[in-house]
Amino acid sequence: MNLILLGAPGAGKGTQSKLLQEKWNIPQISTGDMLRAAKQAKTPLGLQAETFMNAGKLVPDEVVIGLIRERLAAPDTARGFILDGFPRTVAQAEALGGLLKDLNRRLDAVVNLEVPEAELVERLTGRRTCSSCGTGFHLVFSPPRQAGVCDRCGGSLIQREDDQEATIRRRLKVYLEQTAPLVAYYERAGLLRGASGIGSTEEVFARLSSIVGGLSIAGATG
Ligand code: AP5
Ligand code: MG
Repeated sequence: MNLILLGAPGAGKGTQSKLLQEKWNIPQISTGDMLRAAKQAKTPLGLQAETFMNAGKLVPDEVVIGLIRERLAAPDTARGFILDGFPRTVAQAEALGGLLKDLNRRLDAVVNLEVPEAELVERLTGRRTCSSCGTGFHLVFSPPRQAGVCDRCGGSLIQREDDQEATIRRRLKVYLEQTAPLVAYYERAGLLRGASGIGSTEEVFARLSSIVGGLSIAGATG
């Protein structure tokens, strides 16, 4: 099952792709997580990406395409993958098409998580993430049992540097200008499936599971 999870910043791509990864046993591939890990490790790539990320801008296409090229070659993607936060420009979508062709693989679906802008800002300003295991929380919608402490591993919860309101607005603008055109791009390719990202995490996951379940049945019979 080869999937893209498309959606604005805060739409729930990370939350839902982690759940899909557990249920379907295929890896979540998040370019945002990969870039943040590189940034934290202060690798040359991380240092290059940092300025763009902190400003709420996209990292140059060739950098993220290089990351994905390497990641898709890893053996754990053989049964499938869930792309979270990639592609984000038409150039990235075209490069992905070329990479998959070379690997003799194809996309099964592009699921677009739809959430209104006011809700996106609320979700992002309240987001907290475990610095140790990466589990996501929200101060209001899914608060930790103890403030600042991860329920799962006891690690400390941090706020992402790009989750300040001014940077959030910038990311949403960049999304509308550079990433939203991918909705029409994948619709033309006959791959797009729209899904409301409103409701509880469980309700949204039930919607996505039914889309992915339908694809897996179609794949098994067709
Ligand atoms: P990236 O890490 O991909 O961030 P993003 O796309 O801005 O999306 P987010 O991770 O902020 O949101 P999400 O949709 O994952 O939401 P989440 O599940 O966390 O990219 C960061 C930066 O890296 C970019 O700005 C760019 O600089 C660079 N980058 C990355 N990929 C790139 C690429 N391909 N090309 C160029 N540059 C790239 O949920 C958000 C919050 O809401 C959480 O607190 C969660 O608990 C809560 N929540 C989730 N679901 C619900 C629900 N149903 N109800 C209530 N709350 C909910
Ligand atoms: Mg994310």
